Amino acid sequence: MDLSPFERYRPLIDDWSAFAEALARPLPQVVWANTLNIDPPGLAERLARDGIEASPLPWHPGAFRLPAGARPGKTLAYVSGRYHVQEEVSLIPIALLDPRPGESLLDLCAAPGNKTVQAAVQMEDRGTVIANEKNRHRIGVLRRNLARLGVTSAAILHADAANLPATVGVYDRVLADVPCSCEGTTRKNPEVLHRLLRTRPGARSGGQLAILRKAIERVRPGGRVVYSTCSYAPEENEAVVAALLHGAEPGSLRLLPARIEGLQSSPGLNRWRGKRFGEQLEKAMRVWPHHNDTGGFFVAVIEKSADATDKRPGQPPREVAEVVEEVDPEPYLAVLQERFGIPRSLFEGHLVFRKKNGRKTAGRLGIVRRDLRLPRRPEPLAVGIPFFHAGMKYPRPTSAAAVAFGHHARRNLLDLDDRRVMDFVFGREIRIDEALIDGPGYVLGRHRGDVIGLGVCRHRDGALVARGMVPKAWASQIDDVGP
Ligand SMILES: C[S@@+](CC[C@H](N)C(=O)[O-])C[C@H]1O[C@@H](n2cnc3c(N)ncnc32)[C@H](O)[C@@H]1O
Repeated sequence: MDLSPFERYRPLIDDWSAFAEALARPLPQVVWANTLNIDPPGLAERLARDGIEASPLPWHPGAFRLPAGARPGKTLAYVSGRYHVQEEVSLIPIALLDPRPGESLLDLCAAPGNKTVQAAVQMEDRGTVIANEKNRHRIGVLRRNLARLGVTSAAILHADAANLPATVGVYDRVLADVPCSCEGTTRKNPEVLHRLLRTRPGARSGGQLAILRKAIERVRPGGRVVYSTCSYAPEENEAVVAALLHGAEPGSLRLLPARIEGLQSSPGLNRWRGKRFGEQLEKAMRVWPHHNDTGGFFVAVIEKSADATDKRPGQPPREVAEVVEEVDPEPYLAVLQERFGIPRSLFEGHLVFRKKNGRKTAGRLGIVRRDLRLPRRPEPLAVGIPFFHAGMKYPRPTSAAAVAFGHHARRNLLDLDDRRVMDFVFGREIRIDEALIDGPGYVLGRHRGDVIGLGVCRHRDGALVARGMVPKAWASQIDDVGP
């Protein structure tokens, strides 16, 4: 393996051969329990039953390390939103940002949404999560992650983070997980190393400072910002934070120690190749791949002083009910209650709304937490998750709603064994026992305790048959039902 792009870091690395060996090994996978619908012991049990050997991460509750070669993003339990797959080092920024239920969080560079969903789940889906992303093509996967995990407290913005107007508001916590050269990701994406062989290190640092400055501008006095990259380059890391501190009013910002018990890390650099960053930068965190058998990462935690003056105070946010077209939820809650036994009380904090499709009003409904607060501007691209298809004789829950709320169902659950489950997933008809279902209508397909999607039952040739309605995009992800 040609490690010449990393030669410049040799003086920073305590054990070069251990570093080189780590880069040559495949990266262990990490998953965390979606505690909106399963507790960590429940996930551990499920993974064990599916033949996946999972060991708890010592430093992050609810997360598990899997052996290299596991394919956790390809299982039915993944599609059903029981867990999320995320690189171990990528868990660090939210662990240090530490958002609490009911708070507000702005994620400036959000796609594909790993940290957005991690934060929203940690916040118990209560409060406000605003996920901004500049690249339109990356927003689809962000939306799918929010829907798959059943996150109803988030909205998506499509804007350049560096140029967000003050109307976006102020937040308790802001994440600046900025685009970078991705040097630390070569174990996961070997092609990154080939690109690095052709480019100049730290070449992207200009835009990163502008995004970090915006993060500081949009956090409330007393609030916290996390700046992170998956790069080793001091130009993208300490130099950016040092430039921020240098340009800030004295006493308005301070670095908090970025350390995590159970995770080995190195302090940030106070100087590099003749440039001085200052002693404060030692409070930042560097994670080298060979220390914890991970990728590489950099994180700095910055607190804005409670006395800092807001030069560009935001405007008060809007209530979600001012922005979306609220509809009477009763017909839809009745379907969930009467057909599936999903209690209405589950939706007390939610609002059901009609989704706009261009200028036409579509028959699709969304669901969102009523206490989500939205920016004055820019207008959100999406809020909440898809809930129902309403423009039809029998309103139909969306697949996202089926997996998000289906684990509260008590009736009309179709338990599928390993043989029949793929027929359901691919929409092939299955004969079912009349005694198990209350006649024709919608059913929820369940496999090993996980609701995997909606289906419909009808009579055909004197028998009851069911057909799954799992979206093709979901079905095509699955290649494993476990042994
Ligand atoms: C490191 S990735 C973010 C990863 C994400 N936080 C996660 O955990 O899944 C950086 C993201 O920033 C986006 N981006 C780049 N420049 C941006 C800008 N000026 N404003 C907002 N997003 C930007 C990129 O398209 C990319 O999706």
